Amino acid sequence: MGNPRINPVILLSPVEDGYVAYNPALDNLHQLNPGAALLAELCDGSRSLEELRALAAPLMPDGKADEIDKWVEEGLKAGLLVTEGDGAAREFSAAELFALTKRLRTAGKVQTAYLCGKRTVELKPDDWDAWYDVGEIAQCVGKREEALVAYQKYFDHHPEDGEIEHLLIALRDAAPPPRASDRAIQHIYKAFAASYESIMCDALKYTGPERLRDALNAVLGDRKGLEVLDMGCGSGLAGVVAREWAANLTGIDLSPEMIELARARGIYDALEVAEITAWLQGGRSRFDLIVSMDCLIYFGDLTPILRAAAGRLKPGGFFIMSTERGTRHPFHLTDTGRYNHHPDHLREAAAAAGLKVARLEESFLRMEYGDEVMGLFAVLAGPL
Ligand SMILES: C[S@@+](CC[C@H](N)C(=O)[O-])C[C@H]1O[C@@H](n2cnc3c(N)ncnc32)[C@H](O)[C@@H]1O
Repeated sequence: MGNPRINPVILLSPVEDGYVAYNPALDNLHQLNPGAALLAELCDGSRSLEELRALAAPLMPDGKADEIDKWVEEGLKAGLLVTEGDGAAREFSAAELFALTKRLRTAGKVQTAYLCGKRTVELKPDDWDAWYDVGEIAQCVGKREEALVAYQKYFDHHPEDGEIEHLLIALRDAAPPPRASDRAIQHIYKAFAASYESIMCDALKYTGPERLRDALNAVLGDRKGLEVLDMGCGSGLAGVVAREWAANLTGIDLSPEMIELARARGIYDALEVAEITAWLQGGRSRFDLIVSMDCLIYFGDLTPILRAAAGRLKPGGFFIMSTERGTRHPFHLTDTGRYNHHPDHLREAAAAAGLKVARLEESFLRMEYGDEVMGLFAVLAGPL
């Protein structure tokens, strides 16, 4: 038998207790225990089986020395190892691996997608799109440091990408900005708009509109025919509900693509592409009801936006909003680039803005990477 070596097609990655070895040609993943991981390292084609035995036996965990032959035999059978002169063994090219990364990711196989993505950028370190994908997949598999490195590489060559600029702040644990920048929001929703509703409603089970309906029934009931403002209206998912209470419905959003979706819905009397804080501060008309569902997740300190909204409420008006429920006071910029808020911060910001908390509920908001995200749903009453 020729000298065994790791099949060049195999992607090896260290894990806590050994290695994982992925064979992209066969789409199979092997867990290598510490003994097998050691053998995998020694099998570089320069050593015969006898040499491997002599070298590895004293290093093997207790009672495992006689398993060396068995492991090599099984490794050869499984395609993990090849012997010298085996013409079939060929490493995948960067382009092949990148295509495979995307396929595996779409199929939900994020662990193996990550291994393929990492190898892609090792082979082609100037493939900035591949670095972006590695960043995203590293986040999916909970590798925060690796995500930071990958996104930074991508961002160094794409400094125009406001979304990644914002994510890097979170991943670096740097002081968060008061809110996600306009260009971050516009970048996120330019890409997200086309699939927004199917992802939010079907995949992520977004409950904002239902919770809004509950709140409106509870505090307004039959009080209809109102002047209503939908802040961060997006495609109009919450606007559809607010419409039932509105004589006039205005929608404001920073994303032109989302505003176009809202326009196509045909439920708004007026729509504008604008930043909501500046829009509120720059106008005079007043509203009976202001709603903002799943938009203030892009804001840190809620005080300025609640003050601005309070200034545009008619006497007896309500501001209804949702955000993600956080456990850190006052708020926290998470690795998703969104902020979550401690309920006490919401109460404090409302008080500072002269708004009374009429209702504050915590319940399921939507899914995220397979986990449930809890929301804070607040009804804030303006002065009478
Ligand atoms: C998750 S979507 C929610 C859309 C809608 N309210 C809903 O319930 O489906 C968040 C929306 O807020 C908008 N947005 C975020 N920050 C904003 C800001 N500062 N000014 C205006 N719109 C903003 C985004 O463009 C996006 O359309």
